Amino acid sequence: MRVALITCITGQDGYYLARLLLDKGYKVHGVRQALAHDDRAHIKPLLDDITLHYGDMTDQTSLNNVMQAVQPDEVYNLAAQSHVGVSFAVPEYTMNVNGHGVKRLLDAMRAYAPKAKFYQAGTSELFGNSPAPQNEETAFDPQSPYAEAKLYAHQTVVEYRQQYGLYAVNGILFNHESPKRGDDFVTQKIVKAACAILKGAQDILYLGNLDAVRDWGHAEDYVEGMWRMLQQDAPDDYVLATGTSCSVRDFVCEVFGALGHDIIWQGQGAEEVGMLLENNREVVRIAPEFYRPAEVHNLIGDSRKAQQNLDWSIRKTRYNLIQDMIDAELNKDARAGGHIQRARA
Ligand code: GDD
Repeated sequence: MRVALITCITGQDGYYLARLLLDKGYKVHGVRQALAHDDRAHIKPLLDDITLHYGDMTDQTSLNNVMQAVQPDEVYNLAAQSHVGVSFAVPEYTMNVNGHGVKRLLDAMRAYAPKAKFYQAGTSELFGNSPAPQNEETAFDPQSPYAEAKLYAHQTVVEYRQQYGLYAVNGILFNHESPKRGDDFVTQKIVKAACAILKGAQDILYLGNLDAVRDWGHAEDYVEGMWRMLQQDAPDDYVLATGTSCSVRDFVCEVFGALGHDIIWQGQGAEEVGMLLENNREVVRIAPEFYRPAEVHNLIGDSRKAQQNLDWSIRKTRYNLIQDMIDAELNKDARAGGHIQRARA
């Protein structure tokens, strides 16, 4: 039985990856942080089938101990301070976890499980404002402490592969979402707010930059790509993306549209507002606190290398993603006795 170790198994990708690996017959171990609150809500359905260990990317001893105890065949590093906007507030912490933490984990692997294969959760944020579409050849142009730290991690993985002959790969993943996405990321924020506004539980959705364009896919497809990257003869780095994109503004329209309501926009910049077409009621406004000191404007991925070498492809479009996220929210609402309707398609 193959043994996998997943850091931050408690997050969105941790849940979907653990589920995939269990389905494939792996013994799955996960690292969780020692937190004051219980962070296992996402992985509740898997708790009987996985083994959890306390560990932290800032604590070498804990990583050594987990690696020695688990003796994994495959290591998936999903642990990170993953919010780009927040990284401006906690830059050193972000570098410690997202950058130096990867070196610590690789060192633990070299010492205690040197034959294991290593997956590093890289990011399209590395490309910054390099022109789209971006692929493995595109120049990196980090625009945030988050991206700087991920660049350090990316290069560490490449160096360890070259210097020590490790099977270590970077997945350069574009935005991927799901019903398990955290509430502070823009897709989940929009879905939850749209549902709450339409049932009268919230007045306004406050957002930052509406013009940012992202390539949004479904996390279920992306964890499949992570696994495929570790099943090759030789390690290499791969972009995973849908190759399609839209702006934050259009994502708002698509979510309200899926719930049967059209949005119209008025005004410019921080004065722009989104209104329900049927009654001109304002439902979206700008709150400059959600602007970032530097923005990545346009991310659209070119994943042809992964399609060709890994036989990887997208099964769920952005339309499917929005339907999944809305369904999850409406089911929660229905269980609570609510009555939001989805649009009659
Ligand atoms: N979070 C957030 N909240 N973002 C907003 C808001 C808001 O109220 N309003 C506008 N945005 C814009 C952000 O400025 C950004 O341009 C875009 O919406 C997406 O923001 P996020 O959902 O926070 O994701 P991200 O693109 O910054 O980062 C995500 O994707 C990366 C891969 O490209 C994260 O998952 C990263 O960890 C990941 O590496």
